[in-house]
Amino acid sequence: MDQNGESLARLRPLAVRGDARGSLVAIEGLSDVPFAIARVYYVFGTTSGVDRGLHAHRRARQFAVAVRGSCTMLFDDGRRREQFRLDDPASGLMIEPMMWHEMSDFSPDCVLLVLADGPYDEADYIRDYDQFLSVTRSEAE
Ligand code: TYD
Repeated sequence: MDQNGESLARLRPLAVRGDARGSLVAIEGLSDVPFAIARVYYVFGTTSGVDRGLHAHRRARQFAVAVRGSCTMLFDDGRRREQFRLDDPASGLMIEPMMWHEMSDFSPDCVLLVLADGPYDEADYIRDYDQFLSVTRSEAE
């Protein structure tokens, strides 16, 4: 929470279309997520104790769902940090631009699905935390 009591993000519920056969979640771009989906990737088989992410995107918007298992997502906007536990295939988290993020505590079975609004572009990444802080501070001026 910040000084206004605002959270850095909130888990977005996804509608589960279940019937006697089991469950199904559909995610449509510009509807269930606030962007057109251009890329899908998933992280799985993560080695125990590993932290992933550790970067921010300059412009890319993403949406992450632990479709199996669980992991922790840490967000840092340059002023404060907040953690979210992803453990539900029926809810996800927007990763907005200029949000430093780190994923940790992956369960061995975790499959973390990520939807993105554009193609992979290494130039969009800020992978150095001090650089991230200086960019957020210069944008705040
Ligand atoms: P990386 O960005 O290091 O993963 P994370 O930051 O989530 O821990 O990506 C790992 C590798 O996969 C790296 O060589 C870049 C590559 N990659 C792609 O080719 N396309 C993609 O869409 C993503 C996310 C990564």
